[in-house]
Amino acid sequence: MSDNITASASSERPTWWRHGVVYQLYVRSYTDANGDGIGDLGGVAARLDHIATLGVDGVWLNPCYPSPNRDGGYDVADYTVIDERYGGMPAFEALRDAAHARGLKLLMDLVPNHCSTEHDWFRRAVAAGPGADERGRFIFRDGRGAGGSQPPNNWRSTFGGPAWTRLTGPDGEPEQWYLHSFDAGQPDFDWSNPEVADMFDDVLRTWFDRGVDGFRIDVAYAMVKHPDLPDLDDPAGENPYSWNQPGVHDIFRRWRALADAYERELALVGEVWLPPAEAADYIRPGELHQVFNFDLLQQEFDARAFRASITDCLDALKHVEGVPAWTLNSHDVHRAVTRYGLTDPEPPATADLNALRTRARGVVDVQLGTERAKAALLLMLALPGTAYLYQGEELGLPEVQDLPDEARRDPIWERSGHTEHGRDGSRVPLPWRADAPDFGFSLGPDHPEHAQHTEAEPPWLPQPAWFADYSADRQESDPRSVLAFYRRALRERRNLDPDAPLAWLEIQRDDAIAFRRGDYVCVTVFDGPPIDALPQWGPAVISSGTAGDTRTTTWYCTAPAE
Ligand code: GLC
Ligand code: CA
Repeated sequence: MSDNITASASSERPTWWRHGVVYQLYVRSYTDANGDGIGDLGGVAARLDHIATLGVDGVWLNPCYPSPNRDGGYDVADYTVIDERYGGMPAFEALRDAAHARGLKLLMDLVPNHCSTEHDWFRRAVAAGPGADERGRFIFRDGRGAGGSQPPNNWRSTFGGPAWTRLTGPDGEPEQWYLHSFDAGQPDFDWSNPEVADMFDDVLRTWFDRGVDGFRIDVAYAMVKHPDLPDLDDPAGENPYSWNQPGVHDIFRRWRALADAYERELALVGEVWLPPAEAADYIRPGELHQVFNFDLLQQEFDARAFRASITDCLDALKHVEGVPAWTLNSHDVHRAVTRYGLTDPEPPATADLNALRTRARGVVDVQLGTERAKAALLLMLALPGTAYLYQGEELGLPEVQDLPDEARRDPIWERSGHTEHGRDGSRVPLPWRADAPDFGFSLGPDHPEHAQHTEAEPPWLPQPAWFADYSADRQESDPRSVLAFYRRALRERRNLDPDAPLAWLEIQRDDAIAFRRGDYVCVTVFDGPPIDALPQWGPAVISSGTAGDTRTTTWYCTAPAE
């Protein structure tokens, strides 16, 4: 009897945020409902079935708040509403209801490290002048040197150039400097000011009360700065005074308590670009539910590198309560097909290690990149924890490396003095229909919202002609398409026991890895001769390869463990 009770209790799927798959929506580039060339929430709602039929558990919307868009909406002018360009609050409510009706969770993007220079608080801080209380919500300092003409310290912006910008007073005279870890349009908040924490409590509650199921938290390890703002020994290196300060964990304990006060299951997932051991600190009991694992995404397509990275991450989980959020693609990195298919890299244009690993440019073997990206996806989906997909990867899209320079919008391009191309190439509007104008990105004149625009504007980033080959409609009915593969892979993942631990299988190969999770065995060959499944692994149930013509595959076998 007691065995039966245990069995039925453990066969219940655990809470969704421990195992779910989330689809990242870069709203500006998904679908444009009203024909102004910019994707919007009406467009997402119109094509929600594409996401639902993929078989994911939820979506995460990149920021869609009012913003001057100096950094793709990560410069927020108002945290409490949806920008009219994305359809405003009515479009949000319609999308929320449509998502929930399909059983999809809805995560928003929270940007707590900085706002926009057009946020009301920052405008007031500028107007109030040096020394005013309003300035205490941001990090204003006098400059150094004669007349304060030098920045207060030697920190660099993540996007290039100094992390400080000097204001000009109403009299035309230069006055104080403000800190911005990113673009000059993104002033950093001073989180030692309790007003900042209170404001964000209100923001969280506002959206939770409106029914969102959680937040992805932007640069979640950056909010707390060393109080002395010391100079860096090496300004080009990491900034230990602004990243991963211990005090940042207090913020997450506060937000976790706030989220736990709701009856529904909410999830907080942190964007933390730190090695696995340090990233794991963000999901200790009472802190975030999930933390992104970016370490795997930064690895070369190599068996030893993948195994070491996965092992590091799983080892780091021993004292945590939360789970890793695995990902191989996002709006900040080159698409996996391109990363894994890069055969002849250009000389590096930056010393930034992360940019080198995730945004190297050069000649790409798309077929090789595609095989590797499919194998990596299937491997990722077999790992314990949650997984995040980025729109367009299910179409097998490569990075658009050849955007015309004048079309580039990423502030990295300007701030690096046109040496680093930045992230626009993963943000190009999606191809839906091979033969339609804009590849169907704009829904066309028949759509009810389209009446506002008599002629459709071109997409905000130009789509290359070769996007036709990747369009969703061409893949829809082709069982060999990447899209069909993604659907099969996500369906198969549902059979994996989310609680089953990972146990490596020693297969004596440097170019392959294998592990068991519950009933499943997952095998990946990283460009090498095939491996025969052992009889005790059971029959193969899914493979990323096309039989016989590939040296790179991941496949699952399934048989009850002995
Ligand atoms: C995060 C976002 C990125 C943005 C930056 C500044 O890394 O993912 O797109 O530019 O934060 O907000
Ligand atoms: Ca639009």
